[in-house]
Amino acid sequence: MTLFNVYPLFDIHLVKGKGAYVWDNNGNKYLDFYGGHAVISIGHSNEHYIKRIEEQLHLLSFYSNSVHLDIQEELAAQLGKISGYDDYNLFLCNSGAEAVENALKIASFHNKRKKIIAFKGSFHGRTSGAVAITDNAKIKPPVNDDSHVLFLDLNNEEQLQTAFKENDICAVIIEPIQGVNGIFEPSTDFLQLIRKLCNENDSLFIADEIQCGYGRSGKFFTHQWSDVQPDIITMAKGMGNGFPVAGILIHQRIQAQHGMLGTTFGGAPLACAAALAVLEVIQKENLMENALQIGNYLKEQCTLLPGVKEVRGKGLMLGVEFNFPIKEMREKLVYEHHIFVGNSSQPNTIRLLPSLSITKKEADELLTALKKLNQTQ
Ligand SMILES: Cc1ncc(COP(=O)(O)O)c(C=O)c1O
Repeated sequence: MTLFNVYPLFDIHLVKGKGAYVWDNNGNKYLDFYGGHAVISIGHSNEHYIKRIEEQLHLLSFYSNSVHLDIQEELAAQLGKISGYDDYNLFLCNSGAEAVENALKIASFHNKRKKIIAFKGSFHGRTSGAVAITDNAKIKPPVNDDSHVLFLDLNNEEQLQTAFKENDICAVIIEPIQGVNGIFEPSTDFLQLIRKLCNENDSLFIADEIQCGYGRSGKFFTHQWSDVQPDIITMAKGMGNGFPVAGILIHQRIQAQHGMLGTTFGGAPLACAAALAVLEVIQKENLMENALQIGNYLKEQCTLLPGVKEVRGKGLMLGVEFNFPIKEMREKLVYEHHIFVGNSSQPNTIRLLPSLSITKKEADELLTALKKLNQTQ
């Protein structure tokens, strides 16, 4: 049997990782400024993370959501404390797309409507509900109807107001930093207007923090820079540092009913152990502060590089836009300099999504390589 060939792959076979580095099967070492797509939040093979999962494996790796699993309560308590959302409720699932699906379902159960506002350039996942609100026709098969979705321009207040006037809006879903689209941010005013219009129309505000959340921006959630509180917050990626675990935070006024949502694997003890280990390391090693500090340094230094047009983003979620297509430079970074960075829908933009524990020395390693490559452009 062969693998269903859907991924364009680098010709590299990775076999191990430690901290900010990964190694291939020939012993070559690579600096990881991509984090397997923003997933590696606390570094590869963190010792506390391994120990926490290993201990749980010996105790109880799985049981379904038909009994009390106290480790879920422990995770909810820790998450409430670190995020500042102590008074929200937590639903656990397995992946980003699943978190988005559940957020949409909750919103629609809550106000019995179905019109969703999403934004141009958005990416929310590849399952039916999530791909319908994703602005990319290429990944949307005919079976995934999106006639219930209004795609508006990011930061266009007039369009937003008109959409609310003309439609019975169920929910607005927004990435507080658009990731796949190449790092674009809604303004504080725009996020606050979404909050206001949702309040006035009994619609729900969903913040998709799957890529930009979990400390990456320097605050636990990126929307917290704008002083707004969404009704539902989606999380995945960095939550398990590679262990598949995801979740949604839900405002208290949204009522749960038995059977309304459910999952077999979601909230399994092993996944909760991974998620707890991540929160413990983020706190113990002050990784949010580090994300902000190293992020600011990178932003400042990248702006000075030859060929750079603009640097966008916050903390360790940065888009560096060059005045040329980055495809060739990204390949040279990997094959000649042994550094992974991300790409995006914008042909001229690289995405930096390293572990939140990245150091200044590692940032300098990337900057030196970028400088060298650009002198030869
Ligand atoms: C903002 C956002 N939402 C949702 C998803 C989907 O997450 P997953 O691939 O875990 O289903 C992604 C993945 O890149 C994302 O960036």
